[in-house]
Order: sequence, then structure tokens, then C-alpha cells
Amino acid sequence: MLSSHKEIKLKPTDFIVSKTDTKGIVTYGNKMFIQMSGYSEDELINKPHNIIRHPDMPKAVFKLLWDMVRKKEEIFAYVKNLAKDGSYYWVFTNVTPSLDLNNNIIGYYSVRRKPNEEAIKIISDFYAKMLEAEKRGGVSESTNLLIDLLNSKGVSYNEFITSIQG
Ligand SMILES: Cc1cc2nc3c(=O)[nH]c(=O)nc-3n(C[C@H](O)[C@H](O)[C@H](O)COP(=O)(O)O)c2cc1C
Repeated sequence: MLSSHKEIKLKPTDFIVSKTDTKGIVTYGNKMFIQMSGYSEDELINKPHNIIRHPDMPKAVFKLLWDMVRKKEEIFAYVKNLAKDGSYYWVFTNVTPSLDLNNNIIGYYSVRRKPNEEAIKIISDFYAKMLEAEKRGGVSESTNLLIDLLNSKGVSYNEFITSIQG
């Protein structure tokens, strides 16, 4: 099997932590973040967080992530990440803004843990549909797919994501 097709699974006790500045430049990663990425700490710090972006991830998910955290809201998401050697790992992530005493955003903080396997089956199929939509009509078209799904269930995005994590 090619290393690019190899999935690395988190253990239930694993926590992956990273912090960024206001522009998404990595300022901190815990040991597990560095280990899972396959990069050295020097290769990660001061680099854009998209260094581990996987091409299977729809752009619309990251647009939503940034829209929400810039509004000082937290977001939950399932993210497929790409390690340096081409292997990938799914995470269930929570991203929050870090505020100073004057309520200004000074950076962002993310904690990830093992995703529910059943949730990943649902989400990977849905992300594939979103990617197709992006090829046809860009981010707005894949965002519409997501909005339609949430409307059909009558839930917010975070409610949907946390409900399938269980
Ligand atoms: C705190 C924080 C953590 C992030 N974690 C990830 C991550 O684990 N994987 C990822 O692909 N993008 C992550 N992002 C989003 C990236 O900044 C970026 O938006 C994304 O990789 C898509 O790349 P692009 O914006 O250049 O298209 C994170 C952003 C923030 C603020």
C-alpha cells in the first residue's frame, strides 16, 4: 500500500493541540500534533496551518471555520489532515478564538480528538459530495449543500457535528 493511502488512527486518549496567530500561522503545537503531522517542530512553527491540509477537504468547511471563529464563536468540525509522508488522519476538532482583556482576538486554539468512526463514514461521503459541488459551482454551491442538509435536519452546524460524534 502506498503511504499516501495509509490512515493513521488516533487512540481514544490522544489529544492534538495547536495554536495560531490571527492569520492562521502556527505558533504552538503539542507533542501529539508534531508527531501526527510527521514534521519537526521547526518545520511547523511560523508556518500556515494549511501545511497539513488534505485535498479531500472541501474549501467550504474552512470558510465556515474562519467565519465562525472571527465572529468569536467556537466551531466543531471533522477534518481529514495530511501528514508529511502522505498518510492521513481524521480528527474531531474544536476551534476557539483566544481573547485579550479588551475582548480582542489575539489568536486561535484548536483541540482535536479521535472521531467517531460512524461519523467519519457519514462525513467522508458528504465531503466528497461537497467537493463535487465545488468543482461545479465553487464554494457557494458546496455551502448550499451543507445548508440544505442542516435545514432538512432542523439543526445548526455545531449541533449536527456534535450529535454525530455521540
Ligand atoms: C486554530 C486553527 C486550527 C486549524 N487546524 C487545521 C487543521 O488541523 N487542518 C487544516 O487543514 N486546517 C486547519 N485550520 C485551517 C487552516 O488555517 C486553513 O484555513 C485550511 O487548511 C485551508 O487552507 P486555505 O485557507 O489556505 O485554503 C486551522 C485553523 C485554525 C485557526
